[in-house]
Amino acid sequence: MTVIQGFLDNKIFHIISDIAESKGVRAFVIGGYVRDCFLGRPGKDIDVVVEGSGIEIAEAVAEVVRSHVSVFRNFGTAMLRYRGVEVEFVGARKESYRRDSRKPIVENGSLEDDQRRRDFTINAMAFSLQKEDFGALVDPFGGIRDLDAGIIRTPLDPDTTYSDDPLRMIRAIRFATKLSSSDRPFRIVPESLESIRLNRGRLEILSRERIAEELNKMLVCDRPSIGFRLMDETGLLELILPQLCRLKGTENVEGHGHKENFSHTLEVLDNVAAAEAEAIAAGTLKDYEFEDGEEKEKIRTEPNLWLRWAALLHDIGKPATKRFDKDAGWTFHGHEVVGARMIPKIFKSLKMPLNEKMKYVEKLVLLHLRPIALVTEEVTDSAVRRLLFDAGNDIDDLMLLCNADITSKNPRKVERLRQNFELVRRKLSEVEAKDAIRNFKNPVTGEYIMEVYGIPPCRQIGELKEYIKNAILDGVIGNNFEEADRLMREKASRMGLVPLPSGQ
Ligand code: CTP
Repeated sequence: MTVIQGFLDNKIFHIISDIAESKGVRAFVIGGYVRDCFLGRPGKDIDVVVEGSGIEIAEAVAEVVRSHVSVFRNFGTAMLRYRGVEVEFVGARKESYRRDSRKPIVENGSLEDDQRRRDFTINAMAFSLQKEDFGALVDPFGGIRDLDAGIIRTPLDPDTTYSDDPLRMIRAIRFATKLSSSDRPFRIVPESLESIRLNRGRLEILSRERIAEELNKMLVCDRPSIGFRLMDETGLLELILPQLCRLKGTENVEGHGHKENFSHTLEVLDNVAAAEAEAIAAGTLKDYEFEDGEEKEKIRTEPNLWLRWAALLHDIGKPATKRFDKDAGWTFHGHEVVGARMIPKIFKSLKMPLNEKMKYVEKLVLLHLRPIALVTEEVTDSAVRRLLFDAGNDIDDLMLLCNADITSKNPRKVERLRQNFELVRRKLSEVEAKDAIRNFKNPVTGEYIMEVYGIPPCRQIGELKEYIKNAILDGVIGNNFEEADRLMREKASRMGLVPLPSGQ
């Protein structure tokens, strides 16, 4: 009998055990919590399955722990919070699905019926909450064997499991991505992979939001490339993000080849994940939020999902801009502009937010070549100021993406570029420390110009402000009010504007 020690210590399990016994029903902990116990990753949420009414047990437990219980009668589930942990109760079910819907037809069943209808053997393990064998593992489908061997397998014939709920095809890939580590990969068994290939058309009954949710979870894994390769191999990617599939392959004309952009993209994505994880561990990445009109700085502690999206889509404009030139070879001129323009359509197709998160991805895609361009050109202060101005608070993420984008089969070339890149990074901190451009605010406001010249809102105000901004970015004047005011007066007088006597 396998019993997990730490698991027995949590008070909530003893409370549930007492209540289940008093009501004469059997209760078990099931699913992700059990899996994560064996993986040594502390699970957050707890799923409890009851051979009887999950709602009734939840209501009784809530009374003992004095917690509010949310009941979802339609689904036969109830949820309560205990010391920051969500505990969900459900009655053991026998389920079958219709072809056109994810909504199951539900009947009451035994624990084993319930385990059989779950997605993967590693997610179908249960811990007993009965007094006589408290904490014993109930594992009829060999979940523990599969967890040890690093295998994703369905309890039933995969065609049945995936056809019942096609979201599980993406979940299989997500778990393979999440659970794989450098010393132990997780593999989906071949018959399951084959079944995903066969059933991929069933994705159409899923909502785009649910698909995007799985992609998001995959993207924040340590090595997201694993998931995108598997999605490609099984034909899911073509249905979810066809634009990414267009990056595949390479062409050769007159002995000139080009980078295989799909593999390159996935390499960049993994590089970003690794570099971000390192920076998070070192506490060097900051996020900026506005609270009560004030900018607040926070040290980043979790991966930035949108940075991962930017990495995934950074070269998405390449296929549309690919040209062969006799002298220059293959070029992808303007792919960053075309790529940035493709983002809203991609986000819309996945029902993702069309808000500032999307704008951030657009911005990073648009700017992703700028820092590296500085590596190959002379690094002038004004070019650095312009980059700081355009990237604003996202400069660190942009630099991280750009550094991750340095990939080549030639390690010496990578090393050389990375060293030059470090020079750009140093220059950026120097210029920022000196000129504070990252959060550029024009020292001269529109209201001030209107006041000095007694003019209403008009085109000339924009012109003056633009002139001052450019002068600061080009290093003609310093980033301060005195110099900006002097320049404004010179320029305004050339434009025929005369200050009011009070504005002299
Ligand atoms: N489950 C399933 N089919 C699904 C979704 C969930 O069979 N399409 C079952 C699995 O047994 C799973 C449990 O419901 O373990 C809980 O699902 P969920 O909370 O989505 O996943 P976890 O396994 O807890 O993992 P994670 O929190 O990483 O998503």
